[in-house]
Amino acid sequence: MAALNTISYEDGRLHIIDCTRLPTELVTVELKTLDECFDAIKTLKVRGAPAIGVAAAYSLALVSNASGAKNADEYLFELERAAKYLNSSRPTAVNLFWATARVLKKAKDNGDKSVAQLKAIVEAEAIEIQREDIEMCRKIGEYGLTLLSDGDGVLTHCNAGVLATSKYGTATAPMYLAHERGMKLKIYADETRPLLQGARMTAFELKEAGLDVTLICDNMAGMVMSRGKIQKIITGADRIAANGDTANKIGTYSVAVLARYHGIPFYIAAPSSTVDFSTPTGAGIKIEERAPEEITCGFGRRTAPEGVKTYNPAFDVTPAALISGIITEKGIAKPPFCENLARIIRGN
Ligand code: MRU
Repeated sequence: MAALNTISYEDGRLHIIDCTRLPTELVTVELKTLDECFDAIKTLKVRGAPAIGVAAAYSLALVSNASGAKNADEYLFELERAAKYLNSSRPTAVNLFWATARVLKKAKDNGDKSVAQLKAIVEAEAIEIQREDIEMCRKIGEYGLTLLSDGDGVLTHCNAGVLATSKYGTATAPMYLAHERGMKLKIYADETRPLLQGARMTAFELKEAGLDVTLICDNMAGMVMSRGKIQKIITGADRIAANGDTANKIGTYSVAVLARYHGIPFYIAAPSSTVDFSTPTGAGIKIEERAPEEITCGFGRRTAPEGVKTYNPAFDVTPAALISGIITEKGIAKPPFCENLARIIRGN
């Protein structure tokens, strides 16, 4: 199969793979307006923290290209309003806020330029964000690979793969590099209730790329670990607090607890854009809650009684104490994360 182009931007046109239609249909859709971009992020057509950031940056490029502003002030006002709107699409993945803030800052720093110049600057910044995303994922892969041994069973949760980034993924980057270099890994993908990102996306993309992937239901992870099938666990992240507490897809915390019980190293793989130094601990991370229908009537079939009370948090926070290491593009931070994350990422 040809490489998956999760997000592509060419000649001012933005296309994404519509993740909601996987695995049965691999469909690319064009996003033309700010509302379409907002909707694509909110409804998880484009999802996964780094991909959300890249998509948001390109959304601002679309707004910028279409702007009829007569001067820089008008232009910046319009861009800021669009950034605020995009920021309200999903609350947990910090890459969204990081990307819109970065594009906005670039524009504001050039506030003395003409509207035409600003348009070129904003578009170039969005393209640069995607270029960096690819490079960061590749480097995460290189560092992550040093933690793996030939023959390892590696469990992952949700989708922190190509379909959540621009290329390679984060948690999957070491897996793809291992495959490229002839190393044999046996990957276990949690299906990831309720939206099945593990089944619909991770199992899909790894299988298509020829990796050895086995799909399990979330509630099988403990049993699989107890049978000695898992030597390492790597998941992605939506936001990492300054102390290393990590928000990721709901169920990640349970996997980390199981890993500790079974003595299996549990790693997070994420670019530095996912680390939020302004949030001291996981308690400060806003957790998205999604519609009850996702757990009562998933994919259109009712599986719970009408009117039953539900609770549907989309993410949980894994305490830093359960994390063996955080794999970034700048190196692997080991505990204590309070010191080591800042040292590796900011050089403090
Ligand atoms: O709700 P989603 O599908 O956006 O959740 C995605 C995850 O939780 C991923 O594990 C995370 O964003 C890391 S993506 C490299």
